[in-house]
Amino acid sequence: MEKIVSLCKRRGFIFQSSEIYGGLNGCWDYGPLGVELKRNVKNYWWRVMVHERDDVVGMDGSILMNRAVWKASGHEDTFTDPMVDCRSCKARLRTDQLVEKKGIKQCPNCGGKDLTAPRAFNLMFKTYVGATEDESSITYLRPETAQAIFVQFKNVLEVSRKKLPFGIAQVGKAFRNEINPRNFTFRSREFEQMELEYFCRAEEGMKWLDYWLEERLKFYENIGIPRAQLHVKTVPDGERAFYSKGTYDIEYDFPFGRQELEGVAYRTDYDLSQHQKASGKSLEYFDEETKQKFIPHVVEPSAGVDRTVLALICEAYSEDEAPDEKGKMETRVVLRLHPQIAPIKCAVFPLLKNKELLVEKAKEIVDLLRPHMNVFYDESGAIGRRYRRQDEIGTPFGVTVDFETLGEKDPALRDTVTLRDRDSMKQERVPVKDLPSILVSRIS
Ligand code: GAP
Repeated sequence: MEKIVSLCKRRGFIFQSSEIYGGLNGCWDYGPLGVELKRNVKNYWWRVMVHERDDVVGMDGSILMNRAVWKASGHEDTFTDPMVDCRSCKARLRTDQLVEKKGIKQCPNCGGKDLTAPRAFNLMFKTYVGATEDESSITYLRPETAQAIFVQFKNVLEVSRKKLPFGIAQVGKAFRNEINPRNFTFRSREFEQMELEYFCRAEEGMKWLDYWLEERLKFYENIGIPRAQLHVKTVPDGERAFYSKGTYDIEYDFPFGRQELEGVAYRTDYDLSQHQKASGKSLEYFDEETKQKFIPHVVEPSAGVDRTVLALICEAYSEDEAPDEKGKMETRVVLRLHPQIAPIKCAVFPLLKNKELLVEKAKEIVDLLRPHMNVFYDESGAIGRRYRRQDEIGTPFGVTVDFETLGEKDPALRDTVTLRDRDSMKQERVPVKDLPSILVSRIS
């Protein structure tokens, strides 16, 4: 993990939030490359979950909602972690983090046994809306994006004119005052979720639960996490939310252990029923064929953007051996990111920066590629160093403009360039005019 955290900082993927003031625990900032990677993950999720389907529409709800939402959903009373304080080292710990030796619970930091009794600690961040800070102005930063979908269910149903089964998708920030944020971005206090609420008939809930599990596994495979690295945990009865009839956790083997990437849960009609009861507004669906009214059930695949990004970086990180400028073998750090989600798709290099014609041609190629993909121009340093810099940030393709491109060596090679593949390091000669189509097909 240390190598990954260091690469993320050094190359501008992820920085500690408020770093110059000592940071803020559990909060992270994405730098120039991190924001591209994150955006590519979200865009691909949106493409397969919304654009490529007839049965899903999107929405973008507000982060602050009426406090009544959190009362009705159960978050105000039950969205808690049991927490203890260690009286010896003053650490505040989740009870599941205590270590047990000879039947006695101990602090994992100092081994102390003088612990307070467990207390429920609500994970929602409380805030006040408006100028007065009293009981009537309290609300919370949302701890999940899902509730906005439930409370807008009727509006979206009416405007989209969808029939069951259909889904509403949303990507956005969520906030949890985690007791112990840790493992880099894995458990943060501010993070992003990609959630789908898929509404269906009660008798079809279990079928859609299995369907969405498979769809979600395919998603991770398509962005570069092989099926063999993904593990499906069937959450047992005692560990599921009381209203859920079935939940799967999709887990990934992070360097710090096997951990949840995404939950796929059959939430029954719990949420819509709660909001209907609390608001007094009907959230029923009218079936035109049977002329019946009922509250739909819901299956929810809920993924974390930050956890997906972290898994992708962990999966892509590798070291191999490659020759340096003088032909001596050296360690090469390479991020083998899937081209689809790589922050930069292609780097363009003039062989020498002091040859005007090479520079001019390389810049023309940047302009040619830019409408199709995120391109990076680099003229500084030896060409081998420039390749290494791109390998380390996962750029799948490198284009070099050399004297052959100018037709100086062989007129037949005029307007051709070398195209280098990050993973195999193989180079091929291709006509400049074919570059957009070759690259676009290899990226997708
Ligand atoms: N609406 C359902 C829901 O929020 P969850 O299992 O609590 O379910 C869903 O969260 C996903 O959100 C998790 O699988 C994880 O990817 C992400 N997530 C949850 N808490 C997180 C945290 N503290 N930091 C980063 N990601 C988190």
